[in-house]
Amino acid sequence: MDYPGTVSDLTERLREGGYLADRGLATALLVALSLHRPVLLEGEVGVGKTEVAKVLAGVFGRRLIRLQCYEGIDTNQALYEWDYARQMLQIRALSERQVADAQAVDKLFGPRFLLERPLLEAVRAGAGAVLLIDEIDRADDEFEAFLLEVLSDFQISIPEIGTIRAESPPTVILTSNRTRELHDALRRRCLYHWIGYPTADREAEIVLVREPGASEQLTRKVVRAVHRLRELDLAKPPGVAETIDWVRTLEFLGSTELTPQAADDTLGAVIKDRDDLDLVRENLAELTSGA
Ligand SMILES: Nc1ncnc2c1ncn2[C@@H]1O[C@H](COP(=O)(O)OP(=O)(O)OP(=O)(O)O)[C@@H](O)[C@H]1O
Ligand SMILES: [Mg+2]
Repeated sequence: MDYPGTVSDLTERLREGGYLADRGLATALLVALSLHRPVLLEGEVGVGKTEVAKVLAGVFGRRLIRLQCYEGIDTNQALYEWDYARQMLQIRALSERQVADAQAVDKLFGPRFLLERPLLEAVRAGAGAVLLIDEIDRADDEFEAFLLEVLSDFQISIPEIGTIRAESPPTVILTSNRTRELHDALRRRCLYHWIGYPTADREAEIVLVREPGASEQLTRKVVRAVHRLRELDLAKPPGVAETIDWVRTLEFLGSTELTPQAADDTLGAVIKDRDDLDLVRENLAELTSGA
């Protein structure tokens, strides 16, 4: 497996994959790759937390294994499950042939009937994988404690099969939108990096990497307007994803200028809340002025 030797190598590889990482993020990822430390990425909505894991896996030819967290997620959905339906069919077949000996029953809890879920998959794949544990803040406390255990030794015990251990651990990236505080124990295990909104120049660069055909002039205008939007007291301030969407939408409609009319027509690409829409519409002229 080829490794980036330095932070600038890694930054360059990510850029080739379409992701612009700043120095702090690239450093955290380099350490994660080399010293096998999980990275915890927190940040605003739509600033590239999930994307960086995808691109990292892509540029190093690793498998991306994604564990999407949600309220109520439990260990079955994260580790493994028995394929009940197939087990039932097997039992039917066995009883028809009346060969339900002890060995055949044991086989019912063997690898053939095991459904791998992301964590088991990642332990098996080891260093060949990037494990993305996305939106960990949505899972509950208990699940977080369980994850901590898995992350600390990368081994999983399945009573019927035995212990499965990663020879070399996968690269782990956790993301959180801070809808709740994570425990200190989890934070301590990880390298922490906060992804904030990029500067205007940087954001324009990101848009142009993602939409290489877009007009640079229009992009700069949109970025400036988005930065003004972020200064308003919005319930859902636009992320980088929305900036890209807005440029894409304007380009599609053939707008070359961000006039108040063009902005009004396309606000749905960037504002995703009704009260926010009202507030923004009151300020449209100002938002697009000099944009
Ligand atoms: N630094 C960046 N370089 C390249 N693209 C970026 C960057 N930051 C954001 N993007 C773009 O923004 C989009 C949204 O990013 P992503 O889905 O990773 O955000 P997120 O932080 O995970 O958001 P959420 O909190 O909503 O899950 C990506 O598809 C990507 O196109
Ligand atoms: Mg995300």
